[in-house]
Order: sequence, then C-alpha cells, then structure tokens
Amino acid sequence: MLVRCLYASRAAQPLNSTVLDEILEQSRRNNPELGVTGLLCVAENTFIQVLEGGREEVCDLYNAIVRDGRHEKVRLLVYEEISERQFGAWTMGQLNVARTNPALMLKYFTRSRLDPFEAPGRSTLAFLTEVVATTGITPR
Ligand SMILES: Cc1cc2nc3c(=O)[nH]c(=O)nc-3n(C[C@H](O)[C@H](O)[C@H](O)COP(=O)(O)O)c2cc1C
Repeated sequence: MLVRCLYASRAAQPLNSTVLDEILEQSRRNNPELGVTGLLCVAENTFIQVLEGGREEVCDLYNAIVRDGRHEKVRLLVYEEISERQFGAWTMGQLNVARTNPALMLKYFTRSRLDPFEAPGRSTLAFLTEVVATTGITPR
C-alpha cells in the first residue's frame, strides 16, 4: 500500500545551507532502506516536503520529522493512498523555489509567491508536480 504525504513547516532558525545539507544527508542515508522517495522544497524559511512510500514507513517517518526541533508549525496538507509514485526518482530531491519561474507560481497561487499555509494543499501538490515535470531536478 503506497501513500503520499505533503506537509509544510517553518524553519526554527533562519535557514542556512548547513542545516539543509544535514537534513538532506539524513534523508539520503535513511530513505532508500525505507523505500521512501520525495522532494524537499525550500522557500525562504519554509519547508515543503512530499514523502511517498509504504504507509507504515511514511507515517513513522512523518511522526519523526514532526518532532524534529529544526522546524515548527508542521502542517499536514495532503495525505492520500496512491497507485503510483509521482516523486519516485529521488531518495530526497531538493528544490529552491526562489529559482522557480514566477509565471508557474501564478498558475497555481494568488501571487507569484509560494504560501503553502494559505493555499489549498492540492494546489501546492500540483505546483510541485509541474515543477518536477518541467525543470531539471538532479536525481539522487
Ligand atoms: C524538514 C525536514 C525534513 C526531513 N526529512 C527527512 C527524510 O526525508 N528522511 C529522514 O530520514 N529524515 C528526515 N528528516 C530528519 C528527521 O527528522 C530525523 O532527524 C532523522 O530521520 C533521524 O535520523 P538519524 O537518526 O539516522 O540521524 C527531516 C527533518 C526536517 C526538519
């Protein structure tokens, strides 16, 4: 049984590349064994993460991530059972939204700015799906 989970959170401290590198290193170390794939998107001090994999693995990982002191205000945006992965190419892909085409943001959001706490979870997921389809994200 495959599931997908999308959440957003705020970084507890202003984000720097060391914190981000540590998180990605942990993700890339742990996720392959769990069979979890996904995308970690960073926009200013906001994290948006998609996790895909088995229900047990995704739920356990999500619960661990929620307790992580490096972020706060974790909000679950989408949780669904899926028949196939959309973010299967990455143990944890990375995307910096600051470098995303503003026109693509306007397609899904009221402003050319990503605010996952305001926008419907479905819009944020559709935006990420299109970004993945149209821009190069280094497979890792
Ligand atoms: C925004 C965010 C995303 C994270 N994503 C993952 C992830 O995809 N996989 C993972 O194993 N840990 C992730 N973590 C880290 C976990 O919260 C936790 O620190 C880690 O799984 C502990 O693993 P370790 O004991 O092997 O270091 C994330 C943390 C944050 C703050």
